[in-house]
Amino acid sequence: MEMVKLRRIVLELKNVSKRYLMGETYVDAIKDVSLRVHENEFISIIGPSGSGKSTLLSIMGLLTQPTHGAVFIDGINVSNMNKDKIAEIRGKKIGFVFQSFNLIPSLTVLENVTVPMMFLGVNRREREERAKEIIREVGLSFRMYHFPNQLSGGERQRVAIARALANDPSVILADEPTGNLDSQSGEEIVNIFKNLHRKGRTMVMVTHDEDIAHASKKLIHIKDGTISKTVSVGNKRMMIEKQVIKKKNKRVKKNKKENYERMK
Ligand SMILES: Nc1ncnc2c1ncn2[C@@H]1O[C@H](COP(=O)(O)OP(=O)(O)OP(=O)(O)O)[C@@H](O)[C@H]1O
Ligand SMILES: [Mg+2]
Repeated sequence: MEMVKLRRIVLELKNVSKRYLMGETYVDAIKDVSLRVHENEFISIIGPSGSGKSTLLSIMGLLTQPTHGAVFIDGINVSNMNKDKIAEIRGKKIGFVFQSFNLIPSLTVLENVTVPMMFLGVNRREREERAKEIIREVGLSFRMYHFPNQLSGGERQRVAIARALANDPSVILADEPTGNLDSQSGEEIVNIFKNLHRKGRTMVMVTHDEDIAHASKKLIHIKDGTISKTVSVGNKRMMIEKQVIKKKNKRVKKNKKENYERMK
């Protein structure tokens, strides 16, 4: 019998919708979306501008309350919890990376990374020790005491990633993390994500750049607030392989036929 490896569901949306009310009118940004993120998945959400990607990610990250539907983090239904409880779960379980970095300008790299740990009551020594370790992990040890405005865009985003890792979250959510970067810095950020994924992290990244999306193992396409298709890279490779085999078989048949005709 074939063994099926069951991976834990880290994050789940069940029939989630988001309607933004604006005076007399409204926008249905997300319409009845259900999805699951399993442990150690690396997912890209891709789609045109205005299709609802950021809204979807901020619902997943508990930054936006859906109008309908339920959000589960590590199996816990957070939909009906109060704001304080939701903030607590967000702080512990979600690491968010934004396009515009969102670092605190008056704090050093080290201090920025320690901030999320303060809310969980980790003592100062432990905070700094852990922060230094993560800053090393994103390759920024040499910028420990710099302030954000003394860093390049790529370096700032690495600080933001380190900050997202501070509380050892269940999932890292990144909204256009390379959107403000030149292509080389963008590539570096993508490589850090690939590395984190290899080390067992679970990640969801929003992008409208196909090349960047292909760093991940699964692509969720969003169109007009709904999932239009989901592509797993493994499956895609399999599909391409199947096509190659088909073509090859055709060629073999043709050759056989030709040989046969020749022999006649
Ligand atoms: N706070 C808000 N109030 C009202 N409408 C909003 C709000 N945020 C987003 N929208 C609308 O919801 C829709 C989806 O927006 P969203 O920002 O999720 O799209 P997106 O796919 O992230 O786009 P982009 O690629 O440009 O970042 C858009 O029509 C947008 O105008
Ligand atoms: Mg967006």
